[in-house]
Amino acid sequence: MTTTEKIRAITACKGIRPVVQLTAYDYPTARLLDETGAIDMLLVGDSLGMMVLGYPDTTSVTLQHMLHHTEAVARAHPQALLVADMPVHTYDTPQLAVQSAKALIAAGAEAVKLEGGAAVQEQIRAIISTGIPVQGHIGLLPQHIKEDGGYRMRGKTDEEVETLLRDLRAVEAAGVFSAVIECTRAEAAAQLTASSSVITIGIGSGHGTCDGEVQVFHDLVGGFPWFVPRFAAQHAHTSQDIKAAAQAWAKSLILPPSTTLSGQ
Ligand code: KIV
Repeated sequence: MTTTEKIRAITACKGIRPVVQLTAYDYPTARLLDETGAIDMLLVGDSLGMMVLGYPDTTSVTLQHMLHHTEAVARAHPQALLVADMPVHTYDTPQLAVQSAKALIAAGAEAVKLEGGAAVQEQIRAIISTGIPVQGHIGLLPQHIKEDGGYRMRGKTDEEVETLLRDLRAVEAAGVFSAVIECTRAEAAAQLTASSSVITIGIGSGHGTCDGEVQVFHDLVGGFPWFVPRFAAQHAHTSQDIKAAAQAWAKSLILPPSTTLSGQ
C-alpha cells in the first residue's frame, strides 16, 4: 500500500471503528506487531528515550536516535503506517522542521509527529507543503513538561478546554491527518473529537472519547516495571517472563555434582 492509501484508509475510519496506534522502536517488535494485522499505525515515539535508552524523560532524545530506530522499524516493511516522532528542538523553525522531517522520511518513516498546537502551526504547514503527512500532538506535551508544570491532566478548566480547542483547530487548519490528545480530561477529549474532522488518538484521555488510541509498547506488555502510568493498558507481563527465563537458563547450566565440565 502506498502512504497515501494508508492515510486514506486511516482517515476513513473516523466514526466507523477505533484506530489503533502502538509504539515500536526496533525491527522484531515492529515485525511482530505488524504481523498481527491489528495495528493501523506504528509510532517510533520519542518515548524511546525512557523505554529503550534509559533517560528520565524525552528531552534528551536527538534526531540521530530517532533516525537509528526509525531505520530499524522500517526494515520490517510494516503494512501499518510508520510515523516517526520529531524530537524536541528539531522543529524550532519551519525551515528546521522541514529539514528534520525529510531526514526521518529518508530513514523510512511515512509520516512524522510533532508536539504542540497553535505554536507549531507554521512548522506543520511547512512540512505538509513538501508532501510529508503530519500527525499533531496536543494536551500534555512530554517534551515541555519542565516548562508546563509536569505530568498533570489537561482540560480541567474552561480556559484549558478553550486552549485545547484552539490548538486542535490550529493543527487541523495546518493540515494534519490525525492528532494525538494526551492526558486530557475525558469530557474534553470527547468534545475535541466531536469538533474536529481529523482522526483524534487518545492516550490517558478516557476510553472511547477519541477516534482511536495509542499506547506505549512497554506499557502494553509490562516491559518497563519501574514506571507504569495509570492509563497503561497492560495485557502481558514480559518483565517477569524475562527474569524467569534468565533464572531458569542459569539454573539449567548447573551440572550434577558428579559431572565434570568435559562431560566425563
Ligand atoms: O513518544 C511517544 O510514545 C508518544 C506517545 C505517548 C503518543 O508520543
